[in-house]
Amino acid sequence: MIGVESAADQAIVERWIHAGQGHVFRFWDRFGPEEREGLLTQLRRIPLDLVEDLAEKHLQDEVPAGPGRAIEVCQPPPYIPGPTTPGEKAKSALRRKLGEETLAAGRVAVLVVAGGQGTRLGFDGPKGTLPIAPITGKSLFALVAEKVRALGRRHGVVPGLYVMTSPTNHDATIRYFHDANDFRLDPDRLMFFSQKTLPAVDGQGKVLLESPARIFESPDGHGGAVDALAEAGGLERMRRQGVEQVFYCQVDNPLVRIADPLFLGYHIHREAQVSTKVVLKRDVQEKVGILALSGDALQVLEYSDLPAGMANETDEDGHLRFRLGNTAIHVFARSFLERVSSGEFHLPYHMARKKIPTIDEEGNPTVPAEPNGVKFERFVFDLLPYAAKTVLLEARREEEFSPVKNAEGDDSPASARRDLVNLFGRWLGRAGIETPRDEGGNVKGLLEVGPLYALDEEELLLKVDRNLRFEGRLLLDED
Ligand code: UD1
Repeated sequence: MIGVESAADQAIVERWIHAGQGHVFRFWDRFGPEEREGLLTQLRRIPLDLVEDLAEKHLQDEVPAGPGRAIEVCQPPPYIPGPTTPGEKAKSALRRKLGEETLAAGRVAVLVVAGGQGTRLGFDGPKGTLPIAPITGKSLFALVAEKVRALGRRHGVVPGLYVMTSPTNHDATIRYFHDANDFRLDPDRLMFFSQKTLPAVDGQGKVLLESPARIFESPDGHGGAVDALAEAGGLERMRRQGVEQVFYCQVDNPLVRIADPLFLGYHIHREAQVSTKVVLKRDVQEKVGILALSGDALQVLEYSDLPAGMANETDEDGHLRFRLGNTAIHVFARSFLERVSSGEFHLPYHMARKKIPTIDEEGNPTVPAEPNGVKFERFVFDLLPYAAKTVLLEARREEEFSPVKNAEGDDSPASARRDLVNLFGRWLGRAGIETPRDEGGNVKGLLEVGPLYALDEEELLLKVDRNLRFEGRLLLDED
């Protein structure tokens, strides 16, 4: 018998026992008051109905529900490729102008998700604090914040920056910004909000314990961003400030063009609810989601869900048939996000089998050799099938996409730094300033252009001294 003081807590305890989750009280008798209160606090917060529902779906091996999931009948979707003809370039210029006007009118906010745990990267601390700029070592967060400030300087209005954290890194993230003087962003332009977490369950649908008095919980996926933003008052603040479009990206891509006016312009012109930037997949193995059309519904199929046959399929030119990779760069209409948060659309929960550190029968910590549980996550790109109008715009990966996922090799800090240096090398090249290359075509030496010096090639061309010579190391930056 588990005795607690308040009747409300007693009801919660009964409810957990009734739900077949009584093992969370296995060590109750050993606990002191603090441990008891700690566990009760978790129990009061965890949405047990949802956990029961998800556990049952997991036990029955159900695939996540949602519109447009019929993988067998998927087609490659149409998209807007990078402009090549004079006509396309003129159209592009018009769209960019529309985006710039929207930025200047203060109708754009920036939402960066940084709640993930960066397990693959093995970096200790919030991923956004990872030093990445080739010379100054500015972090992923610093680059985002400086790009936002640079946009403000260029367009006369600083877009609001909304950073999604998770309970594990929320305080550390806020401290980091605080210590950096918020990168000189005004407090009413900056908001941090934490996503929610959910327990993981084992093969019998029981929640896993992280320690005798603590249920293991992990972030509920970036799909939780919309609800978490709404609950924190972020959507309301955006509405009050006249924001109509929300530019969304992940913190892990230092090449991202934050609030790219071209992308915004295409999205606004089409009156789209959700837009996505895509890159052509590097090869079959690249771990990116791919865009696919199922009936009218556009969707992202995650690399882990993609049947091998479909991933390898080629068209008559020998290109991958499904080659549009998801960059996780989106624009959402704010009004659409409001409809999502009001419950009009439901994002499905995906299940991922993971190795989850837990405890044994005696309460001692164990690290499993094989996956021992299932985590539940929602993905923001599952909003795509609900959108009546969408835009897919091609981005050139060497200009806009080099995510940091792994400690080494592809998609690592080293490859992202190399891609930044090469990007700046091409900008300088257009200004007539040559940079030597190695046999792989990579710039030899170190090169960095700070966002406040130039946000893009055009700005660099206006500013840079054409007599400058690159002698193996060059930093162009401003405060
Ligand atoms: C993700 C996308 C993939 C896309 C690729 C592009 C998913 C499931 N897939 O893959 O389609 O092609 O990025 O780089 O997202 N995050 C949170 N909270 C969470 C989980 C993640 O904020 O609960 C953030 C992380 O901080 C990270 C980003 O989302 O910045 C991506 O998460 P990650 O798990 O690295 O996704 P990928 O598998 O790399």
